[in-house]
Amino acid sequence: MYILGIETSCDETAAAIIEGGEKEIKVLSNVISSQIEIHKKYGGVVPEVAAREHVLNILPVVNEALEKAGIKRQEAAEKIDAIAVTVGPGLITSLIVGVETAKVLSSVWKVPLVAINHIEGHIYANFIGEPRVKFPALILTVSGGHTMLVLMAGHGKYKIIGETRDDAAGEAFDKAAKLLGLGYPGGPLISAKAAKSEIPACQSLALAGRQNPKSIILPRPMINSNDYDFSFSGLKTALLYKLKKDKSWKKRIPEYCAEFQQAVIDVLISKTVKASRDFKVKTIMLAGGVAANQELRRQIQEKIEILVPDLKYTTDNAAMIASAGYFRALKKDFIPWQKIKVDPNLELR
Ligand code: KG4
Ligand code: ZN
Repeated sequence: MYILGIETSCDETAAAIIEGGEKEIKVLSNVISSQIEIHKKYGGVVPEVAAREHVLNILPVVNEALEKAGIKRQEAAEKIDAIAVTVGPGLITSLIVGVETAKVLSSVWKVPLVAINHIEGHIYANFIGEPRVKFPALILTVSGGHTMLVLMAGHGKYKIIGETRDDAAGEAFDKAAKLLGLGYPGGPLISAKAAKSEIPACQSLALAGRQNPKSIILPRPMINSNDYDFSFSGLKTALLYKLKKDKSWKKRIPEYCAEFQQAVIDVLISKTVKASRDFKVKTIMLAGGVAANQELRRQIQEKIEILVPDLKYTTDNAAMIASAGYFRALKKDFIPWQKIKVDPNLELR
């Protein structure tokens, strides 16, 4: 089954073609037009600018995805079995561009439409390739907009057992990077600086820090709370106060980055390990843009058996949307193009 995936929820215009089958989900093309360079100068995504860029990019990106998958435009209607599109959560003006494009293609090609939740898409990045997931599954979903622990009983069956009470993990990285004058997006910039820290970022950093009076120590918010929730806004504030007190902080940016990154990682791992002990699951997965963080990937894999998505499918892309679309298409979970709607606050249900 051939699925065209379309993703425009934030600042990446993306389209992909996958071939879904029982033995493998094969990515035939995965095209992403990133707007990072444009938004960088504003220090974050400007919704109106993002929408305008999506409008300019969406058709060229869809065309390129078809071409790279070896599908001629005139044969697309015949070859594509379903179109999967992100309907939320995300920026409303960005989402509309992808959804309207999917609607037009669906009505002209007469190909069924599948509505996909962006978070569900991140989860389904783990389904690309050969089947590895067994249900029930536990997923740590960490992105710029969301941080949650999800129990998945089967395809499309989710229960959120914990989530952030304020900032998402990726958002925390982005805000910390801003405080440290590093730019946008923060996650990759902080992790690159952290790798240069003279104090190696390791799980025992918090303890080592307490033994070395010169070390920077940041809190691990909610690490001992008796639930699966997270909170990262206090961590960012703690960093702000530390920087204000330290006149020479600019000379210690790698150490600040390493400690900040480790604080986030410690909490994410601790809550995931707790949930994995409390719930009987057969698979644990990592999902979302922050899953690109090498230290998180390394340290969490040391603690538990966990699936991590291929790096190219961690941050926003359309292959993950097509992958989720394939499983919904199998169940004929289609929506007529006249009825599809965007929902910027769509919940995972
Ligand atoms: O999933 P994603 O591409 O978009 C959303 O759905 O939000 O995630 C983007 C987030 C950003 O906050 C970015 O800073 C973070 O993922 N991120 C990282 C890394 N790469 C991206 N955070 C930590 N380490 C990284 N290497
Ligand atoms: Zn995302």
